[in-house]
Amino acid sequence: MEDLTDKKFVVCPAWPYVNAVPHLGTVLHLLSADIYVRYLRLRGANVISATGSDCHGTPIEVAALATGISPEKLVEQHHAQILDLLRKWNIDLNYSKTESSHHYSWVQDFYHRCFENGFIFSKEIEQLYCETDKRFLPDRFVEGTCPHCETPGARGDQCDSPSCGKPLSPVELINPVCKICGKPPITKVTTQWYYDFSAFQEELTDFINKNENFPDNARKFSNHILQEGLQARTLTRDLAWGIPAGPAIPGAEGKSIYVWLEAVLGYVSASAELGLRLYKDPDFWKQFWLEQDTRTIFFIGKDNIFFHTLLFPALLLGTKDTYGKPFVLPYNVSTTEFLIFEEDKFSKSRGIGVWIDEAAKLLPTDYWRYYLAATRPEIKDTSFTWTEFEQRVNNDLNDVLGNYIHRVFVLIHKYFEGKIPECHRLDTTDREFVSAINNVPEAVADHFDNFEFKKAVAAIIDFARVANGYLSTKEPWKLIKSDPTTVETTLYLCAQSVATLSVILSPIIPDTVKKIWEILKQDGSVHDQQLEDAGKLRLDPGSVILESKPLFAKVESEELQKELNAIHKTESKKPKKVKKLPDRETIPFKDFERLDIRIGTIIKAEKVPKAKNLLKLRVDLGEDIGERQLVAGLASFRDPKDLINQRITVIVNLEPTTIRGVRSEGMLLAAVEGKELGLIVPDKNIANGTRVS
Ligand code: MF3
Ligand code: ZN
Repeated sequence: MEDLTDKKFVVCPAWPYVNAVPHLGTVLHLLSADIYVRYLRLRGANVISATGSDCHGTPIEVAALATGISPEKLVEQHHAQILDLLRKWNIDLNYSKTESSHHYSWVQDFYHRCFENGFIFSKEIEQLYCETDKRFLPDRFVEGTCPHCETPGARGDQCDSPSCGKPLSPVELINPVCKICGKPPITKVTTQWYYDFSAFQEELTDFINKNENFPDNARKFSNHILQEGLQARTLTRDLAWGIPAGPAIPGAEGKSIYVWLEAVLGYVSASAELGLRLYKDPDFWKQFWLEQDTRTIFFIGKDNIFFHTLLFPALLLGTKDTYGKPFVLPYNVSTTEFLIFEEDKFSKSRGIGVWIDEAAKLLPTDYWRYYLAATRPEIKDTSFTWTEFEQRVNNDLNDVLGNYIHRVFVLIHKYFEGKIPECHRLDTTDREFVSAINNVPEAVADHFDNFEFKKAVAAIIDFARVANGYLSTKEPWKLIKSDPTTVETTLYLCAQSVATLSVILSPIIPDTVKKIWEILKQDGSVHDQQLEDAGKLRLDPGSVILESKPLFAKVESEELQKELNAIHKTESKKPKKVKKLPDRETIPFKDFERLDIRIGTIIKAEKVPKAKNLLKLRVDLGEDIGERQLVAGLASFRDPKDLINQRITVIVNLEPTTIRGVRSEGMLLAAVEGKELGLIVPDKNIANGTRVS
C-alpha cells in the first residue's frame, strides 16, 4: 500500500441544487465522497472536503417563482433541511452554500484576475427574450429541440438526452419556448461577457491525455468535446438572482455570473471558508489547491463531466500565477452513470423514486448507504429495484454480516462468560483464516484506490463469507465438551475478524460499526482507526465484551413499498390541509400608499357571455370617481341579482384591462376559501368613494 500519511486530498462531490431534497441518485455523489473521505482518513491522509448547496441559476429561480417564495427564503429553508438530512445519513462533509458573502467575494476576486489576464471579453449578441414576461430567457428559462441530437425538451444550457448531453446555448435551440409562459421568444440584442475557453485548448488536451486516473466515460466525453474545439462561452446573464458580475468585471454591472461558472469555484471557496472557520487562516486553502502534489477528487454524475474535466480546469488556468502559484488540476473525476428507479426516471410528481428524507423514515440509513455503495452505477446505468434492495439487505447485511457477528458474540458469552478466549496452536484452517484477516484491508484499499466501490464492498462481504465458513467448519458447538482448547482458538480468531470487519466497514456503515466497537469495548472510536492495523489480531485474551443484539433485521420489499406509499400519501395530503401560503416579501409603507382603495356599491350585475365565472359589474364609487365598470370572477359564487346594492371595496387605480372583450376599470377585494367567497365590506354605512387606508 502506498503511504498516504503525507498526502493531501480535497474530496469534491457535485453541489446539489438547493431547491429539491436529494433522491437516491443525487445523494450518490455526496455519499461516495463521504465514504471516500472516511476511507482516506483510515489511510491517515490529510483530507478535506468541499461541497454544499448550489443556490443560484434558473432552477432555483423557477422553483421560487412557482412557489411564490423569494429565492433567498427558499435557499435558507431548503439548505437547513438538507443539512439536517445529511446528518441523518451520516454524510459528514464540509457543506457550504453558494449564496454566501464569502463565496460572492471569492468568485468576484477570481474573475477580476481572469479579466486582468485577458481571458474575459464582451460582445453584443442576440439573445432570446420573452415579450410576455418581459425578460431574457437564459438557460433553463427556455426549452427547445437539441440541434445536435434533435431530442425535444433540451434546455438552454444543456441537452439532457443521455446519449448526447452536449452543452448548449439558448439561441441554438430549435423551436424554443419560454418556460414561464410557454410562448415562443423573440431575439433581442444585449451585451454579454465571455470566458475565452479556446485559449486553453492545448493545455486541456494535454491535461486530459496525461491524466491516467479518469474513468472511461469522463475521458471519452472530454475528448469528444476537445475534438470539436473549445469555444468561448458566456460568463454573464441578464438575471437578478446570482452573483453580480460588476464591478469585478469592469462594465458588467447589472449582469450576474452564470451559475455553473461560479458554483464550480465553490470547491475552492468552500475550502478557503473552512480554513477561516477552523484556523482563522486565510491562506489555508493554498496548501491544498496551489500545491501540485495535492489530489483533488471529484464525485459527479455523467451529465456533469464537461463542467469538471474542462470548464473548471480552464477557469483555474485563467488565473495564471496571480495567487503566487498555479492551481492543481483534477486528480480524478470519479463519474458515475445514472441511477434510475425500477427502469424509470426519478419523478417527484409521479411519485417514482425514493428521496433521502423518506429513506431515513423507512430504515436506518446504514441500510441505504450499504445498498448504494454495493450497487454504485460505475460502468452502466443501474436500476434501483426493490427486489435487489431486499436481497442485498437480507442476504449481505443480515445473513452474511449481521448473523456472523452476532453468532460470534453469543458463543463467546455462552462458552467463555463474555471473555475473549486464549489463542493456542494453529492448524492449517486457522492459518488460512489468519491470512484472510491479515490481507483483507489491503484488498479493500486497492479497490478504493481505483474508485471501485462495488468491488470494495464485494471484497468485504466475501471476507465475511470466508469467516462464516470458517466458523461452520470448526463447529465449536460440537467440540466444546471434548476439545475446549480448539474452541478457544476458533472464537479468538472469529472475534479478531469481527474487529477487522468493523474497521473496514467503517466508511460504509458508520452507525453499525460503532455498535460493534462498543460491544468489543475497544479504546477510542472505530472511526479513528488506521487501515494499516485493521488486519492485525488486536483483541487481548481475557478482555470482556458486552452482550449483543442482532445488528440488522430482514426487510420485506412489499412492506417497504406500502410504507413508502403511505408516506407519499400523507405528504400529498399535507399541503391541502395545512397549506401554508407562500410569504410575500415585505414592502415599504409608501408602496402600500400607492394603492387607491375605495368603498363602493354595486348598482348593476350581469354575466359575461361565454365566460363561466365572470360578471360585469357597474359600481357607484362616489362623487369624485363616479361610476365604473368592473369585471370580476364572481359568477360561481353569487347570483347577479343578489349583488344589486351590495357594498364592496375596490382598488381603483390599477391599470385598466380588457377581459374577454370587456373593459375592467378596477378590482374588487374578496377572500376565497375553497367554495366560499367573502366580499370585503365596511362594517358601518360608510359613504361611497371613501378611501380605505
Ligand atoms: N447543481 C449541479 C447539478 O445538480 C451540480 C453543480 S456542481 C458544481 O447538476 F460544481 F458546479 F457545483
Ligand atoms: Zn442533444
